[in-house]
Amino acid sequence: MALLDGKVAVITGAGRGIGREEALLLAKHGAKVVVNDLGGHFDGTGQSRSPAEDVVKEIRAAGGEAVANFESVTDFKSAKRIIDCAIDNFGKLSIVVNNAGILRDRMIFNMSEEDWDAVVAVHLKGTFNVSRHATSYWREQHKAGNQLNGRLINTSSDSGILGNAGQSNYGAAKAAVAAMAIIVDREMSRYGVTANAIAPVARTRLTVDATPQTAAGMGQAKAGEWDPFTPAHVAPLVAWLSSDDAKDVHGEVFRVGMGTVFLMKGWHTAAKVSKKGSMWEPAELGAKLKEELAKGATKKESMGEVMSGGV
Ligand SMILES: NC(=O)c1ccc[n+]([C@@H]2O[C@H](COP(=O)([O-])OP(=O)(O)OC[C@H]3O[C@@H](n4cnc5c(N)ncnc54)[C@H](O)[C@@H]3O)[C@@H](O)[C@H]2O)c1
Repeated sequence: MALLDGKVAVITGAGRGIGREEALLLAKHGAKVVVNDLGGHFDGTGQSRSPAEDVVKEIRAAGGEAVANFESVTDFKSAKRIIDCAIDNFGKLSIVVNNAGILRDRMIFNMSEEDWDAVVAVHLKGTFNVSRHATSYWREQHKAGNQLNGRLINTSSDSGILGNAGQSNYGAAKAAVAAMAIIVDREMSRYGVTANAIAPVARTRLTVDATPQTAAGMGQAKAGEWDPFTPAHVAPLVAWLSSDDAKDVHGEVFRVGMGTVFLMKGWHTAAKVSKKGSMWEPAELGAKLKEELAKGATKKESMGEVMSGGV
């Protein structure tokens, strides 16, 4: 029996890049897949049916089952139709991968309101829209005695969990969807649903066309050679997290790429200074804080270090 036999997955933005690889691998392991993709440019403008249709053709040619869906995740009602597409075509929904994404990089002082809104609409509102409809379905099913072992996987980014200049819109949304996975996991565990987030590292249109400086650090793929940055490295983790076997791995954030899965830990106490009985004087507090921080609590990882294997 294949890992995902009997499962039905919705993968948003699955017409290209990381989502395409996830759709192909989940289908190869037995899942029936809704390949959602609006087919737009990397900045969110335009649309085309061919990216989603082509992935569906690939899945079917390999003997799998899939349907295409062209709705935008940014609209609440459209997101409901994405979830309904799975239920109408395949009878149920087991897995949701919130993967659709766009980029509009600007330094904060140059960012237009439109660039902020467009990026937050796809990554943050889009993740909410799809998750909202999926989780209410899973809760209803659970109440009716039908436990589906729902799996929700949000796509975050090092841009949000480490920080990257020029991406305050994208990074803020990506940090938020990592937090949302942890929160939704706490809300949904009683219904047998797990939620996790991934922060992929891969050479796709979003790195090659939208952030060429990042793609330059990834080098070129060479035929027949190990390619650390192919988006295919992301899919095995998503396939396993989607399975029943992963029921005890939940509320986590993983960086994935380059053949490596990193377990990430976010805000946590790294150092502290306390004073009891009387209030801190500001200057006294500053001196104590500097002393503590000098012990190394401020060491930060950068995206460059990650890609060069230094982390
Ligand atoms: N490539 C990386 O290194 C990297 C790093 C961190 C995070 N990510 C995230 O991974 C995800 C996939 O990105 P990718 O690198 O494969 O890029 P990509 O551009 O190849 O794929 C993204 C897909 O999302 C689709 N999409 C965009 N807006 C949509 C909408 N409103 N509704 C439905 N579909 C929509 C696009 O048409 C596109 O096919 C994104 O969330 C991205 O932010 C990528």
